[in-house]
Amino acid sequence: MTTLPRWGLVILCAAASACGPARDKRGLEYTRDMTYSLAYDSFAPNPVTRDGLTLQRPVRGTIPRGYLPLHYSATIEDAERAGRDLQNPVPRTARSAAEGQALFESHCAVCHGNQGAGDGPLVPKIPNPPAYTSARVQRMPVGRIFHVMTFGSGRMASYASQLAAHDRWLIAAHVQRLQNRAEQP
Ligand code: HEC
Repeated sequence: MTTLPRWGLVILCAAASACGPARDKRGLEYTRDMTYSLAYDSFAPNPVTRDGLTLQRPVRGTIPRGYLPLHYSATIEDAERAGRDLQNPVPRTARSAAEGQALFESHCAVCHGNQGAGDGPLVPKIPNPPAYTSARVQRMPVGRIFHVMTFGSGRMASYASQLAAHDRWLIAAHVQRLQNRAEQP
């Protein structure tokens, strides 16, 4: 017999014995550690990584997608600085106007009133939200209105956890529209 047919015989025997009638028995596994790789749980300790954690921390300074860091705090100085520095990044379109109005009416109008006159239905409980046409609010640049929603102001709470930054800008533009509308007869 030459080498080739002899190997053929071996393979034939192996194949024949692999598919026997004993179907309830598992076949031989040659690469167990590759078939069943050891996955670490996200929060389990890990002997391989440098800090011993499986789920790695983001690199310092990492910014999540769709999130822009805002370097301001809840102080009057920062409210003024926001007014000086920030421009509304959301382009004004018919759609953004409609969205801003809807968001305003569901989040702000209960106190400020649909027209921003400071006469919403909650006023007996949360007294005297200023009219947007009051001298103080009328002077506020859009960045400051955004700051009020983000950090609150006086008795008004922050809306940063209810409204994403994009939505706060949509509303800020609506507040300005209410102010301009009120100016025209
Ligand atoms: C629960 C009632 C309430 C809701 C809801 C509310 N506000 Fe106010 N808002 C107030 C009150 C009260 C004040 C006055 C705060 C103060 O001067 O102490 C105020 C003040 C303001 C001011 C002027 C801030 C200043 O420094 O003078 C702006 C601008 C404003 N709100 C915008 C908004 C916008 C936009 C929304 C919706 C995201 C909103 N508010 C939702 C009650 C509310």
